[in-house]
Amino acid sequence: MNAVLALDQGTTSSRALIFDGRGRVVAQSQQAFEQHFPAPGWVEHDPQALWATQFETARHALQASGFSSSHIAALGLTNQRETVVLWDRASGQALTRAVVWQDRRTADLCQRLRDEGHEEEVRQRTGLTLDPYFSATKIAWWLDRHPEWRSRAERGELAVGTVDTWLLWKLTEGRVHATDVTNASRTLLMNLQTGQWDVDLLSLFGIPPALLPEIHPSASDFGTTRLFGGSIRIGGVAGDQQAALFGQGCVAPGQAKNTYGTGCFMLMHTGAMALKSKHGLLTTRACQVDAQAQFALEGSVFMGGATVQWLRDGLKMFQSSSEVEALARSVPDSGGVVVVPAFTGLGAPYWNAEARGAILGLSRGSTQAHIARAALEAITYQCADVLQAMVQDASGSELQLSELRVDGGASANDALMQWQADVLGVPVLRPPLLESTALGAASLAARMAGVELQVEAQEGRHFRPSLSPNEIESRMTRWHDAVRRVL
Ligand code: G3P
Repeated sequence: MNAVLALDQGTTSSRALIFDGRGRVVAQSQQAFEQHFPAPGWVEHDPQALWATQFETARHALQASGFSSSHIAALGLTNQRETVVLWDRASGQALTRAVVWQDRRTADLCQRLRDEGHEEEVRQRTGLTLDPYFSATKIAWWLDRHPEWRSRAERGELAVGTVDTWLLWKLTEGRVHATDVTNASRTLLMNLQTGQWDVDLLSLFGIPPALLPEIHPSASDFGTTRLFGGSIRIGGVAGDQQAALFGQGCVAPGQAKNTYGTGCFMLMHTGAMALKSKHGLLTTRACQVDAQAQFALEGSVFMGGATVQWLRDGLKMFQSSSEVEALARSVPDSGGVVVVPAFTGLGAPYWNAEARGAILGLSRGSTQAHIARAALEAITYQCADVLQAMVQDASGSELQLSELRVDGGASANDALMQWQADVLGVPVLRPPLLESTALGAASLAARMAGVELQVEAQEGRHFRPSLSPNEIESRMTRWHDAVRRVL
């Protein structure tokens, strides 16, 4: 059998999907888990809940498919990136809750390192910026506050890892402590060129090497799991955004995708070239399937679909997120309202951890519908900022961005996609299957198992830009004026 099991551990839910040999979803299961907000700007997950929900969804998907483990050629794993877990190697128990990528508690530490002049060196070595988003300062925060954990870490008694590493450990019952290059490239600890931990960075952040997993290519032998009634080989691991890039078939320089999940993550493949950004983007690893390192430029926007969740849960505007489209379409425009969703600071290209959200331009005529519309437009403006930075970084190179492929939950919203194409000024292509992340993980695993998925090419839907350059400029100017007020 050529079926592949993909596990997708995201920021708000764990999912498991089973693909047949033609890349079609034959069964799936999803479970949400609790978000913990112990202090303003802090976001935590219970590592046991991550594992339990992921294990349960895998079991349910297998049951629903009618397959047994002997039908599964391989397992691919993809995950929310940067979030870190710390556990005891002997007991396999986490010492504390996972600190999530959105968590801002290490803003001061990042500022201190910037003040000490480390920013440029860190950027050169990692392709990243000194921001609490990434894993290293989160790990340092634990060790700085718990000297006993630091001693135990130095003695090799503890293990640390991004969520892929934690789940691999659990799936293999402690036999494998590993990660892949895409996840490692988000920690601030991996040297982007060598694909290995960088000893100078480990010492800068005070992280004992004994804590860290081995780094492998994304399609490689990550061991086997025996937890589903037989032995299943784990052949692929990648951070969710790089997995989506792979799943969208963006494997050639210049091909780009944007995923509308909790945040929005736009990645452009740059081939074997690590393009250094001059406009606030990150240089990161793309999925690696053989000995050749692959790179991408990335713009990370922290609030994408989470903005709609806030309208739903914070402002109680509607019951289900799918209602936002009708509400936002019920007005011809935002009536001058601009929402800046800087709830957890601003990511690319601003990188301001202290910024907070704002609603501007309210008048007596402003309604929920105007705010909903402005919130959706804010998602598109943030992505337009990122695309603009990408085009500027790519100018003078051979990279040509002619269309943007999209996926993720909120990309199902037709209005959002049309407004996105309008402010980008480039066509947006939405494939029929929005499961690019899971498909990417499945394809990596299949490749390792030697059973390439024969995904049928299917026409997607194109959203073509319909605004004049003047109109785009005037909207972006209004947006940038609003952003300046929160920086
Ligand atoms: O960098 C964070 C990203 O990997 C989270 O993705 O899909 O869980 O919002 P998602």
